[in-house]
Parts: sequence; structure tokens; C-alpha cells
Amino acid sequence: MRTVHTIKELRAVIRSYRTQGKRVGLVPTMGNLHKGHLALVRRAREASDVVVTSIFVNPMQFGAGEDLDAYPRTLADDQRKLEAEGNTLLFAPTVQDVYPDGLARQTQVVVPEVSEGHCGASRPGHFDGVATVVTMLFNMVQPDVAVFGEKDYQQLAVIRKLVQDLFIPVDVIGLPTMRETDGLAMSSRNGYLSSSERKVAPALHRVLSETGKSIAEGNDDFATLEATAREKLIAEGLRPDYFNIVNSLTLKPATPGDRQITALAAAFLGTTRLIDNLSVER
Ligand code: PAF
Repeated sequence: MRTVHTIKELRAVIRSYRTQGKRVGLVPTMGNLHKGHLALVRRAREASDVVVTSIFVNPMQFGAGEDLDAYPRTLADDQRKLEAEGNTLLFAPTVQDVYPDGLARQTQVVVPEVSEGHCGASRPGHFDGVATVVTMLFNMVQPDVAVFGEKDYQQLAVIRKLVQDLFIPVDVIGLPTMRETDGLAMSSRNGYLSSSERKVAPALHRVLSETGKSIAEGNDDFATLEATAREKLIAEGLRPDYFNIVNSLTLKPATPGDRQITALAAAFLGTTRLIDNLSVER
């Protein structure tokens, strides 16, 4: 596996793939790779001839007081895991290379509506940062296909919308969330949890599953379901940020006629913010 750090080097390698008629898959990440990320790489391998994984802790998507500085940077370990997974090229640019004029002078991609509410409400500007960097990565790598995890459900919706609106010629594949045996969604941020917090963390998935079961059984008193879920999270020792039951496609509040429904949740355990979601068809 080759690693490149500059956009110039990346472009040269991508050009050679193109000359060879290779289909390029992209897996954008912020590194500190876990099994969930490696499943994305495997899926990209199935869908393309060469897989480019990017590792870039994108400062534009972190708000003031968030964990940009603390975010784990584990490049050597990540390289080893990607190599073992058959990844072709690792692109790990510097902040200076990606934002040479600085963040304040950077052109941004803003995706209306679907970026609003949920994580967009709790983390103002977060999805502008995600949409901007993902668009830039699409332009840098020019992949045929890109793979993202469904754990970041709203992020995936934002990316699908920007691809559609900006006519970006890439197929976006979403992959189901990988979970620990106790149900906790795999996330780089799980590493922040103390051992006692780690024991409490699976409650987020448990409460989502209970809510999903009730929705699947026909309960459409969504306001009560949301309030009950929040109370359960508090009883388990989590501090809910939001628990919203939405239409899976629009991410607007679900209505009783909706057939595809998703419960989106974020909750704090100490200073760690966990997110998860669960979709139901009925
Ligand atoms: O999901 C992530 O790790 C990031 O938000 C992404 C998509 C790599 C953009 O920085």
C-alpha cells in the first residue's frame, strides 16, 4: 500500500489509475480506524479496482470547544490496518495542504434542510464542514464510488444530497453500522469512555431498539415515544442531547403515514458525545 501526503502526489497516482482504466473507490475517514472503517474499505474493494482511503481530521467540522485537538491521531497503526485490508492508497494530507488560505477564506458547501436539526442543531456549522471537505475529497480523488457508514445517518443524507445537487459523478454507498457484541455502535469516540461509562454506553442502542420495536408494532405516538426514550436514557445514566423520530428520507419529524422511519439519537456520557440511529420499515 502506498501513502501520499500531498494533493499533487495524489493526483499523479489517480491519473495513473485512470490511464489503466481502473475503477476508483474512496473511503473518507478521520483515522483511528476500527472494524467499522475496515468494513467500509472491504465494501469499496468489492465495488472498485483500487481503494483510496483518506485520513484527515477536518478542522472545519469541529466547533469551538469540541474535541479537534484531542481527536486520536494514530497514522502508523491505521496504515498497518489498511495494508492488511488490501487498501491500495492512503491519502493523508495536512491541514495546510487542504486549506492553504485558512478556514476563514475557504469556499464552503452548505446543504440546506437536511443539515438542519439533530446534530446540525447541536453542532452549528458541523455539516457545512463535512459537506465542504467531502466535496473537496471528491474533487481531489474523483472516485467512481464512495463508501460511508450509516452510523452518521444525517451525514450520509447530507452527502447524498450534495452529490445530487452538484451533479457529482460518484455512487454513494451507505453501510450498516458495525456494533460491539453488547450493541454499542463502533466509533473512534468510544475510546474516550472510562470503563464505567463503557458499561453504560450500550443503553443508547438498547433504547433505540426498544423504540424501533414499538414503532414497528404500529405505535405512532412519536412525541410520547421520544419523551419516554429520553427518560430511559437519563435513567440509564446518559444525558440525552436529542432523541428524534423522523422520516428516513427527509429527516423531518415522522408522521403516522410514514413507512420508513428512523430514530436518531445523541447522548453524552461524561464529556463524550455518542450518536446512533435505528431505521424501521412498516
Ligand atoms: O465520518 C467522518 O469520519 C467524517 O465526517 C468524514 C466523512 C471523513 C468527513 O471529514
